[in-house]
Amino acid sequence: MAKNKTICVLGLGYIGLPTACFLASSGYKVIGVDLDKKKINKLKNKQLPFEEPGLQKIFQKAFKNTNFSVEIQPADVFIIAVPTPITNNKKADLRFVKQAAGDISRVLKNGNLVIIESTIPPGTAERVVLPILKKKDKNLQVYLSHAPERAIPGRTIKEMAENDRIIGGIDNKSAELTKLIYSSFVKGKIYLTNATTAEFVKLIENSFRDINIAFANELAKLCDNIHINVWEAIKLANLHPRVNIHLPGPGVGGHCLAIDPWFLIKRGVNGTKFIKLARNINDSMPDYVVGRVAEMLKEIKKPTVTILGVAYKADVDDWRETPALKIIKLAKKKGWQVEIHDPYVNDFPYKIEKDFKKTTKGSDCIVLITDHDFYKTINPLEIKNMREKNIFDARNSINEQKWQKAGFKTKILGKD
Ligand SMILES: NC(=O)c1ccc[n+]([C@@H]2O[C@H](COP(=O)([O-])OP(=O)(O)OC[C@H]3O[C@@H](n4cnc5c(N)ncnc54)[C@H](O)[C@@H]3O)[C@@H](O)[C@H]2O)c1
Repeated sequence: MAKNKTICVLGLGYIGLPTACFLASSGYKVIGVDLDKKKINKLKNKQLPFEEPGLQKIFQKAFKNTNFSVEIQPADVFIIAVPTPITNNKKADLRFVKQAAGDISRVLKNGNLVIIESTIPPGTAERVVLPILKKKDKNLQVYLSHAPERAIPGRTIKEMAENDRIIGGIDNKSAELTKLIYSSFVKGKIYLTNATTAEFVKLIENSFRDINIAFANELAKLCDNIHINVWEAIKLANLHPRVNIHLPGPGVGGHCLAIDPWFLIKRGVNGTKFIKLARNINDSMPDYVVGRVAEMLKEIKKPTVTILGVAYKADVDDWRETPALKIIKLAKKKGWQVEIHDPYVNDFPYKIEKDFKKTTKGSDCIVLITDHDFYKTINPLEIKNMREKNIFDARNSINEQKWQKAGFKTKILGKD
């Protein structure tokens, strides 16, 4: 497909915006559409709505080839990169995808290509999106594919360009046309399949990781019981050439691992017990962490705890599905006062203090939830304003001896 084609990207979030920038930088004329007016205004003023290493650079390069709008516009290619959350009863919430498909259908022309980047349950492209696109005209020739994204916040720009990709078309031509678009910036290999397989592959990748983490979390609980160090045990086990156990933690967050496995579980087919069990184990970790912290605080009346990190992973500002939120709620339910620090996260349901020293004032326990690099630079000797010197580390991130030398009672998840 020639680069004089126009590509309309719907949804300018963590995935849609970098994708739009890559395409515009490689010469396509891009229309970036988002329902969020504030986001569009920021982008029009050359400001990024979120931080991501390397994004500023490609954004600058892309700017001259990009128009930003809250309104869908006719184009040759449409890319859907809108959210796919889960409902309260853990079903795939396809509201945004359906709305985006409906918007596209208003301007869709014969021979247009529609690419779904959003993560979706198997069968969604063919059974949900295609009928919406063809609602007005059943004879319209539409090419449709699923091009799931594997990039991770913090490394999105590098991974979008370098990772291998799977592209699944509702027919061969749809897959081929999509490959042509993505090969303008993807240096990794591109593998073609059918749309439903591509949808399934994305979900099993994330379910695999979720299950692996659930196993690590079970090992952490087990090690706390039998008094060995889970971090050392996993490291040693991973020396086996065919073993790769992930790391335990306070729970699983982010817009992918905590959500995508449910898209498989809720399909009513046999064989998803294991995936559901893993979800439940990972969802139980915030309770476990609060329980462990409660043991440290049992002699203290009306304790104050300091939560370090609410982002779901290190060194990013993304707090979607973060286990920190559940931990904070559980702590408050226990009647604890909770002070919260995060160097990156700003908009959060609870007040975030940026001055680390203020969050330890009068505190009885530091609870490290996110292993931001910033926390490794803290010198425990300089923390002089706590009421009791306790630290619980859910990530095995601190230098335990250093903190103990500074007078702290330390506990590390899976290392009791
Ligand atoms: N973030 C990741 O690392 C990642 C990785 C792989 C896959 N995904 C998948 O990619 C999809 C997008 O995720 P994200 O993290 O970029 O989400 P996001 O929330 O950061 O961004 C989505 C954007 O879509 C906009 N939007 C919603 N409905 C719209 C519509 N009808 N028209 C135009 N804009 C609309 C929202 O305002 C928002 O700005 C999801 O399905 C997600 O599961 C995300």
